[in-house]
Amino acid sequence: MSEDEQSRQTFYEALGGAEGIRRIVESFYPKVQAHPLLGPLFPENIDPVIEKQYMFLSQFFGGPPLFSEAHGHPMMRARHLPFPITEERAKAWLGCMAQALEESGLDHKVQLAALERLKGPAYHFINS
Ligand code: HEM
Repeated sequence: MSEDEQSRQTFYEALGGAEGIRRIVESFYPKVQAHPLLGPLFPENIDPVIEKQYMFLSQFFGGPPLFSEAHGHPMMRARHLPFPITEERAKAWLGCMAQALEESGLDHKVQLAALERLKGPAYHFINS
């Protein structure tokens, strides 16, 4: 791909589009479930959470607005208020995401940029 074509590529495309995001989310949640600080916050049946996160990250990274179409305005901080989110949990969440991105085999710069974009919301959701 020429540099020109690359600069026109959306971040969503750089992450591998729908397939890439699904792969990341599917490797992310088993890590979340296994994490002592995060696992207990999540339901045993993680499939609906995987689906919502797939839809959300698709739109968050510039792809189709799947989450809003299905569930309305994201209001993500409000949706997290029922759960005690501490700084430690935000760090743990980002740590699991860093591992999932690492396993994705995506370009390292793309991995770091994705993580950087998620840092803001993760710390913003701290409520406890
Ligand atoms: C900061 C640490 C975080 C913790 C501890 C956390 C935890 C949770 C929990 C417990 C749920 C509810 C699962 C359920 O019972 O359905 C949830 C839902 C969700 N989280 Fe997080 N989360 C964090 C950060 C994030 C970030 C950074 C994003 C994306 C930028 C995100 C996106 C979502 C989405 C899309 C849902 C589904 C919302 C819905 O039910 O409509 N979370 N999260």
